[in-house]
Amino acid sequence: MLKLDNINVTLNQGTNIERNILKDLSFEVSEGEFIIILGGNGAGKSTLFNIISGFMQPVSGNILIDKENVTFKKHIQRASFIAKVMQDPKVGTMENMTIEENMSFAYKRGQKRLFSQHLTLKRRAFYKEKLSILGMGLENRLEELVANLSGGQRQALSLIMSIMADSKILLLDEMTAALDPKMAEKVMHIANKIVTEEKRTTLMITHNLTHALEYGDRILILGDGKIQKELSKDEKNKITIKELTKAFNC
Ligand SMILES: Nc1ncnc2c1ncn2[C@@H]1O[C@H](COP(=O)(O)OP(=O)(O)OP(=O)(O)O)[C@@H](O)[C@H]1O
Ligand SMILES: [Mg+2]
Repeated sequence: MLKLDNINVTLNQGTNIERNILKDLSFEVSEGEFIIILGGNGAGKSTLFNIISGFMQPVSGNILIDKENVTFKKHIQRASFIAKVMQDPKVGTMENMTIEENMSFAYKRGQKRLFSQHLTLKRRAFYKEKLSILGMGLENRLEELVANLSGGQRQALSLIMSIMADSKILLLDEMTAALDPKMAEKVMHIANKIVTEEKRTTLMITHNLTHALEYGDRILILGDGKIQKELSKDEKNKITIKELTKAFNC
């Protein structure tokens, strides 16, 4: 359902600081697959997500989603079918808006239509139901500003917002990196539950090798702008963290 075909990304093209970030990168993701992406700092992982979500454009190559060529669609045009959770908890939510306003924004983006006033109560119940999945009590704080929430709470809210938009593809970029170990486990567990239960096509970048082995269907290891190694579910189940660490410089 997602296909990257010979993607090349070059930054500062034509200058003396020209750099090839992604080089003839090709891979395919099937409907409902949960892909883990590993790779050292600067390997091009976040760039890959920017290419898929339309925040950056490749110099050559094609991106197909459900056989539709979206290579030159802007990120706004892809927003209804691609949702992203970023490493920085502050990026995914708007702090000067309430939890409810943030959720409303995410929901509208997914639905591509505006709400009418009479839907308010129904909508609020829907938000509460989604937030209660987190078990953080956020469902009772709908009218509070997001600025009042901790980093972990904000990241969990970002996750719920991105999933709520009902997008075809979910991109998780080091989603748990800014969270304390307990919160990281909780957010990861919730994400996995939703992704697997809903069979959501998901790509997750992580530096957490325990998560890489515990979750997902397949591992892609990115290095020097290319896929250096791929591990199937079976290979993933057999490999140890020590061996995985050896497989790339992380
Ligand atoms: N806008 C930009 N301008 C110049 N260089 C960039 C830009 N965006 C990314 N790069 C460079 O591209 C390379 C890949 O960056 P990217 O953010 O994709 O790495 P990453 O694999 O996500 O790393 P990390 O694990 O540290 O997040 C890096 O060398 C980075 O400096
Ligand atoms: Mg990155």
